[in-house]
Amino acid sequence: MENALKAGTVPARDRRVVVSTEALPETAAQRIAQIIEQAVAHHGWATVALAGGSTPRVVYRRLAQDRRLPWQKIEIFFGDERAVPPGDPQSNYRMVRESLLDAVSVPPDHVHRIPAERPDREAVAREYAAQLPDQLDLIILGIGEDGHTASLFPGAPALRERTRKVVAVEGLKAPHQRLTVTPSVITAAANKIVLASGSDKAKAVARALEGPDSPDECPARLARDGIWILDHAAASALPEKPV
Ligand code: 6PG
Repeated sequence: MENALKAGTVPARDRRVVVSTEALPETAAQRIAQIIEQAVAHHGWATVALAGGSTPRVVYRRLAQDRRLPWQKIEIFFGDERAVPPGDPQSNYRMVRESLLDAVSVPPDHVHRIPAERPDREAVAREYAAQLPDQLDLIILGIGEDGHTASLFPGAPALRERTRKVVAVEGLKAPHQRLTVTPSVITAAANKIVLASGSDKAKAVARALEGPDSPDECPARLARDGIWILDHAAASALPEKPV
């Protein structure tokens, strides 16, 4: 089914949203809600993959306050997960549960946790890939200082995966053992939102959006055609006039 939410319909000027640090959670929550509402209006439900990290966490906390969203019609997935139990402080699932799921009424069977704590991560990767839709309505991503996104780190073999949708990886950021979606899941998503805050992300943001780097060198480039919601510090290395 042609998804009317194709990221290409968003004009370039609207794909780089630069706001104050304080306004970033509200701005991002509004754009996420808008995409979810469009997806539900278009095909009755919305499939959303969430990222880990401190920048997404503050956005989830603001999104959790949106009582108008049809939370019963949202399917939650994860772009990556660390190989730790779901109650571990380093678990992306725990962070999403505490900042969002505990406050909204997403049906439990609509929350697709990655059981990355299981010893056989290859089996988990296969099982999780089978749960993913052919095309996510929205994938929310963070970006690391090294340009990583999800748990796709620069130079990782996973960046050259062309068949599987989910793979087990050894990430550069602790905890090192992880599972992550592969590039095709990101590029196929109907909508991508990348969240970045702080001057420590400025170089990576500029490399992802403007630089000559390949996704192998700067994995966040995979979401280059997405909506980037940045605070002024994270956008500070971009040219004055975004293209
Ligand atoms: C993870 C995330 C990762 C994160 C970025 C940004 O599991 O670590 O999925 O991709 O989104 O590292 O994290 P911060 O916003 O905390 O810098």
